Amino acid sequence: MKEEVVIVLDFGGQYNQLVARRVRECNVYCEIYSYRTDIEKIKAMNPKGIILTGGPNSCYEPDSPTYTDELFKLGIPVLGLCYGAQLMSHVLGGKVERADVREYGKTEVFIDKKDSKIFQGVSAQTTCWMSHFDYISKVAPGFEISAHTADCPVAAAENEAEKLYAIQFHPEVLHTAEGTKMINNFVKNVCGCKGDWKMDAFVENTIKEIREKVGDGKVLLALSGGVDSSVAAGLLSRAIGKQLTCVFVDHGLLRKDEGDEVEGVFGPNGQFDLNFIRVNAQERYYKKLAGVTEPEAKRKIIGEEFIRIFEEEAKKIGAVDFLAQGTIYPDVVESGLGGESAVIKSHHNVGGLPDFVDFKEIIEPLRDLFKDEVRKAGLELGIPEKLVFRQPFPGPGLGIRIIGEVNAEKVRIVQDADYIYRDEVDKAVAAYKAEHGTAPSWMPNQYFAALTNMRSVGVMGDERTYDYAVALRAVNTVDFMTAEAAEIPFAVLQSVMSRIINEVRGVNRVFYDLTSKPPGTIEFE
Ligand code: XMP
Repeated sequence: MKEEVVIVLDFGGQYNQLVARRVRECNVYCEIYSYRTDIEKIKAMNPKGIILTGGPNSCYEPDSPTYTDELFKLGIPVLGLCYGAQLMSHVLGGKVERADVREYGKTEVFIDKKDSKIFQGVSAQTTCWMSHFDYISKVAPGFEISAHTADCPVAAAENEAEKLYAIQFHPEVLHTAEGTKMINNFVKNVCGCKGDWKMDAFVENTIKEIREKVGDGKVLLALSGGVDSSVAAGLLSRAIGKQLTCVFVDHGLLRKDEGDEVEGVFGPNGQFDLNFIRVNAQERYYKKLAGVTEPEAKRKIIGEEFIRIFEEEAKKIGAVDFLAQGTIYPDVVESGLGGESAVIKSHHNVGGLPDFVDFKEIIEPLRDLFKDEVRKAGLELGIPEKLVFRQPFPGPGLGIRIIGEVNAEKVRIVQDADYIYRDEVDKAVAAYKAEHGTAPSWMPNQYFAALTNMRSVGVMGDERTYDYAVALRAVNTVDFMTAEAAEIPFAVLQSVMSRIINEVRGVNRVFYDLTSKPPGTIEFE
């Protein structure tokens, strides 16, 4: 059990994970629980503070999510945000009503209670992110209004003596200019947290915990070369050395040089002490994929082949005590195990375990971490930045970035084109940063080259060509559920184009994909 924990009670709001991340940015450990969590369980966790999130309902409707008023009488500070603020007011005897107009977007908030602990150091007028229909028309007894907006009489209210705070806007969203300060004020000034949950301490403690749990047992991990499994491998290796075996399946669908990079870090000449097994299964995959053009069929073959190879390797190794997985906190929450958010994706790595590996228990050393925290842990462990800051890369790899049949030649083309594209974008971003001190607004969240199945006539030198067209994809996205094509400067695209045409044999055209998601997907399959 962590010494200091703040709990986020999730009422179905879209920003639940953001709230927890902001708290952790204050170096205070934070976990998300559904509003259905029993009060006894919450008491047993002895949290330093509780935050109630927003949510899509109206708290005065009979079937809306609610919580017993006992929660507000535990003596534990409570901060309600949006729906949470309304619910707190409603449960404690205030009034919440439907407003005539929805207040949405960036809004100027005026702080009325200058000595409020939660607004310490915050400007008297500050920009906040509002998103609500209902509003608190009357505060609960014992509360005083601490902030308002032009349209909203109670932008914030508090009962300082009982340590209860209600905020109508969303301090967790970056559009709220001083939101981080407010959350920091809550966890430090109100809850009295010390804020000593730091990544070096996490790494040290986790290594200790792994040692205690594993004893002299054996651990098996499927290493994909992605951020999560790499950091899990790093942690386990530091904890138990050669008791860990990592199986890395090179399916021949990785980005250029990636297989060797993974081996460089985790293999026998790398910086970690572990048993590293690289399975070079390129030919095996290409054989299976020969003649297959349907995207789902390709995905299925790639997935099944991985399981088969992993199974073969696991059989060679024999019984192990633990199977390690790189599950991270958003996987846990999105699988419906943590908060209240609808099950967005069913993650194969939470819950569903391979039945062909002979193991006793599962071990998930990153289960408590957000992605950016996983990256920090990776740096702390000395994993190279290049690997730690890798973009998301799908499990089926380049197999779903090649339209039509996959073969070695097409993989070579897309690897080389993708390498050039990433290199040019990275250089352009670095140049922009050097000049402006920040990343450019067009900085894509994911960018890669794909291979269309189109061949067309071109001319190179004096010769007629009949070659492939490469598609460049780059998107700006927050959650990868929706996305816009990134506005990469034309000059950058042009240099990518000319390098690809000149350097990659078999390509005579380059397209930029302007499609947003929906209707497109981010991947290109
Ligand atoms: P789409 O193409 O669905 O992609 O818009 C959304 C995000 O998910 C990634 N993606 C995958 N990741 N296994 C993964 O681990 C997969 O099969 C897979 N398919 C898509 C994609 O790269 C993007 O970030």
